[in-house]
Amino acid sequence: LIIASNFKTNHNRKSTKEFIDFINSKNYFSEVRIYPPFTALNHFELTSNIRVGAQNFYPTQKGSFTGEIGFEQLEEFEVDTVLIGHSERRHILGEAQESICKKYDFAKAKECEIVYCVGEPKEVREQGIEAVMSYIWEQFNGIDIDYEKLVVAYEPVWAIGTGLSASLGDIEEVLERLRAKIKAPLLYGGSVKVETTKDILSIKNCGGILVGTASWNVENFSKMIEISDNI
Ligand code: 13P
Repeated sequence: LIIASNFKTNHNRKSTKEFIDFINSKNYFSEVRIYPPFTALNHFELTSNIRVGAQNFYPTQKGSFTGEIGFEQLEEFEVDTVLIGHSERRHILGEAQESICKKYDFAKAKECEIVYCVGEPKEVREQGIEAVMSYIWEQFNGIDIDYEKLVVAYEPVWAIGTGLSASLGDIEEVLERLRAKIKAPLLYGGSVKVETTKDILSIKNCGGILVGTASWNVENFSKMIEISDNI
């Protein structure tokens, strides 16, 4: 199982190092992913199943893109896993499918693990599962779903950072429909808490969780990994 923490715009360099050192000191068995802010990337001495990745990047090796981070900057820290298509980038930062595809193709050419995020907004969820799935399949336009280092994260927009997780049945239904076409590991994200981790990880086709808020506290994140280790 994959247990991933998306720091978003939280933690600084010092607290990230403390967080990662703590997780590293445990001999967890699950596949752990941590996505800190760019400024906190570093040469961490990671144990084999822990990987530190990037929340975003500009699809270039290097160049003149003021304010952006390219792969040369990520490679300095051996980053080999990235998030692409997160709802906050799609909806708050206005990232269009076309630029998401450019990032996807670039990271794929770099043979980097891609955690590709999809999920529907509230008004689509209210229209039922068919509307939800057609919205999600559109988010796969231009995306090579057969890429061998793909991980898909289903994160309903209305469940992100709201404390309102999708129901187990809703998650199961979406994962099952994704599984019909996609062989990559399928994660769920959206207000996952320590208390809901076990039930969510036990859902059929669920290969792990991508956690924001509840994971920023290292004890909570550790508890989630321990729960996963015991499944
Ligand atoms: P929350 O766990 O805060 O809802 O965030 C989920 C998320 O967006 C992970 O990428």
